[in-house]
Amino acid sequence: MGGAARLSAPRALVLWAALGAAAHIGPAPDPEDWWSYKDNLQGNFVPAWSLCAVGKRQSPVDVELKRALYDPFLPPLRLSTGGEKLRGTLYNTGRHVSFLPAPRPVVNVSGGPLLYSHRLSELRLLFGARDGAGSEHQINHQGFSAEVQLIHFNQELYGNLSAASRSPNGLAILSFFVNVAGSSNSFLSRLLSRDTITRISYKNDAYFLQDLSLELLFPESFGFVTYQGSLSTPPCSETVTWILIDRALNITSLQMHSLRLLSQNPPSQIFQSLSGNGRPLQPLAHRALRGNRDPRHPERRCRGPNYRLHVDGAPHGR
Ligand SMILES: *[C@@H]1O[C@H](CO)[C@@H](O)[C@H](O)[C@H]1NC(C)=O
Ligand SMILES: *[C@@H]1O[C@H](CO)[C@@H](O)[C@H](O)[C@H]1NC(C)=O
Ligand SMILES: *[C@@H]1O[C@H](CO)[C@@H](O)[C@H](O)[C@H]1NC(C)=O
Repeated sequence: MGGAARLSAPRALVLWAALGAAAHIGPAPDPEDWWSYKDNLQGNFVPAWSLCAVGKRQSPVDVELKRALYDPFLPPLRLSTGGEKLRGTLYNTGRHVSFLPAPRPVVNVSGGPLLYSHRLSELRLLFGARDGAGSEHQINHQGFSAEVQLIHFNQELYGNLSAASRSPNGLAILSFFVNVAGSSNSFLSRLLSRDTITRISYKNDAYFLQDLSLELLFPESFGFVTYQGSLSTPPCSETVTWILIDRALNITSLQMHSLRLLSQNPPSQIFQSLSGNGRPLQPLAHRALRGNRDPRHPERRCRGPNYRLHVDGAPHGR
């Protein structure tokens, strides 16, 4: 399929469809090849992506908070950066805004439902064409203007993301919901400053950033809900522990606007906003939702150390 990647996108699709129909089995496509939810591609046209169509532990889902089982034994989330600032590349993939951390420093997350230490491999940002829609997950049937996903792989068991994504307990994704409001989360402000975001206006544009403090992405205090699901992009592997942070972040309407001005296409092609490329909701069925907040005492129980991020072992102060 090496040649298919160099074909124009629609022709590559036709080729995959033809291969699939002729043989019912084709070479595994590279998930980095072209696809788009906007064009209603659910993965059922490529045999290797069949989980996207038939899987029963798929993501994203609508989380009804009253269905979440309270688990008082869930430990707090822990973030480890070795005391170093994060650096990496902000990238317009043509489908998402993506931040790819440099190989050093290693950023680890553990705690919560995670029994293993997971290494950060990508920060992904999804957003909508209008406020209040654009997140992949929903809470109580409600969408948000954006969703930030921190994608990690199990570094204790696997050597890299692609091996982990095919294996049990392979991936952990932390999701943050984002509202448009008068204030802005200080980590997201670095990514969305005019100086930065205008450097990735078109597909494949990339811009190097450093001196980032990932802990500033996290709300001061928060609870979370966790469930077992899948990648929300092909091949939709069902190896993901999702952790949804239950306190939304804010960005300003100006920052939101600058996101919607990013194009899915290179500059030579027609402008098509990157917005609205999240995957549609998938059935939760009878999967368990587990949370660390006691729904009977929502406020009283969210102030202790369990509701703070612990950075490099110590609770963080700002
Ligand atoms: C991340 O986790 C691995 C394995 O648990 C550990 O060896 C490494 O020191 C951790 N990295 C940091 C920066 O703490
Ligand atoms: C990922 O790990 C697997 C198994 O350990 C290995 O075969 C593969 O080459 C690695 N892939 C990359 C991109 O390093
Ligand atoms: C987000 O904005 C709302 C409304 O202005 C405010 O009530 C809330 O505290 C803000 N959230 C954060 C995390 O700053």
